[in-house]
Amino acid sequence: MSADAKVDLVVTGGTIVTHDAVFAGDIAIDKGVIAAVGLPGAMPAAREVLDATGLHLLPGAIDVHVHFREPGYTHKEDWETGTAAAAMGGVTTVFDMPNVDPPTGTPAALALKLQAARKAYVDYGIYGLLAEDNIDQLEALIEGGVAGFKCFMGNTFGNLPSPSTGAMLEGLEIIARHGYRISLHAETASIMARRQTKLMAAGKNAPLDHLSARPAVVAIEAVARAAILAEWTGARIHVLHISSADELRPLREAKARGVDITGETCPQYLIHDTDDYGRLGSIIRVNPPIREPHHKHALWAALADGTIDMIATDHAPHLPEEKIRNDIWSADCGWPGVETQMPLMLTGVHDGKLSISDYVRISSYNPARAWGLYPRKGNIQPGADADIAIVDLGREQIIDQEQLASRAKITTFDKMRTKGLPVHTLVRGRFVMRNRKLVTEARGHGESVRRIQRMPKPQPRHTDQTTAAVLGLRSR
Ligand code: NCD
Ligand code: ZN
Ligand code: ZN
Repeated sequence: MSADAKVDLVVTGGTIVTHDAVFAGDIAIDKGVIAAVGLPGAMPAAREVLDATGLHLLPGAIDVHVHFREPGYTHKEDWETGTAAAAMGGVTTVFDMPNVDPPTGTPAALALKLQAARKAYVDYGIYGLLAEDNIDQLEALIEGGVAGFKCFMGNTFGNLPSPSTGAMLEGLEIIARHGYRISLHAETASIMARRQTKLMAAGKNAPLDHLSARPAVVAIEAVARAAILAEWTGARIHVLHISSADELRPLREAKARGVDITGETCPQYLIHDTDDYGRLGSIIRVNPPIREPHHKHALWAALADGTIDMIATDHAPHLPEEKIRNDIWSADCGWPGVETQMPLMLTGVHDGKLSISDYVRISSYNPARAWGLYPRKGNIQPGADADIAIVDLGREQIIDQEQLASRAKITTFDKMRTKGLPVHTLVRGRFVMRNRKLVTEARGHGESVRRIQRMPKPQPRHTDQTTAAVLGLRSR
């Protein structure tokens, strides 16, 4: 075989994990793509061979919910530190949220975000904002390269005003015509605002008062209402950060009605509960809040039975001084997570909560399918992008917030013991993390997923003619 006929990389001796199989196999990678998957020893000659004996090869995680803060809040994170954290965590694709400054609600703001993303180590999708006042910008955002939309039904970091139900319906009608999915911060603003005002007036400012302001009804009401709008318009929707057992009912009911609805939960809602408020104080403040213990058990079960489609992190970096406050209402909400998701969830696999194939299904396969990236991403098979997390399932680690690649050195997971750690991360065949070290030369290797994203247009709905007339659109 001539030197030119060699492939770029063969990974040998490892165990391959997909959403439906676990098997001993080698992988050949060429020009960023998986060229062959096969029996050990059956691979073509390669310029480089990586011995993965004792290790597992997983499709890289696809985290559809991160906040990389650039532009606007780069003291908390930027695209370089955020995607470095992803690379360290075995995450090969991220979807970044629009609550930056300026918010990603216009093509000009999107251009700033795309410019910032040129530093990325891993592949990415950008969310456009769906708000009260930018309905006329949605199609230009699609043209500009967003991979989906984000709608804040309730207030959270950035204090972007929540759209009225009317504006939301119009936004869904427009986006439905293009097939892109709309992710929802599904907490109803008006309920929370009244409760928080009353709590504050009564001088209540302890960590648990944040939970009192946001009982599960705010989430149930929002999920159910969004599902009705999605059903009417044919829009695809995604429920972010499911925190309660109660949301599972409207989610299941909407799926049963044929709504194209997906849902995620995050490690914090599977690991923490109200017992942690005393120990963690204001650090635990997050939207939606950490709830009573019975919720987390229901969320694990919903991941296993498929009601919840995927795991995401809501990577929400803030500085320690922004998190540690005496008055809960002045503490910023959320903490970094893109780097700790895989070790924490693999610990759950180790503890028997999910199988390793379940983990691949919720961390990579399902997000790839929901966001139109499958079969290029979300699986280990010939023709797919060589996005691979190579993990040591036996490797223990104690999470140390000081060692995070994220700029935000504070997390509720600090000092937690995990079992299972990514040791190498490949993005389109290139090492972005190798032997637990960031490959700094790979800065800028990340690309927008729009080049491969396929979101087929849904069937027109019975409302389509009226919609076209009301919104002044061409009917399709
Ligand atoms: C997120 C943030 O900081 O951007 N915070 C959070 O508590 N989850 C915003 C969000 O996802 O709601
Ligand atoms: Zn949110
Ligand atoms: Zn978020």
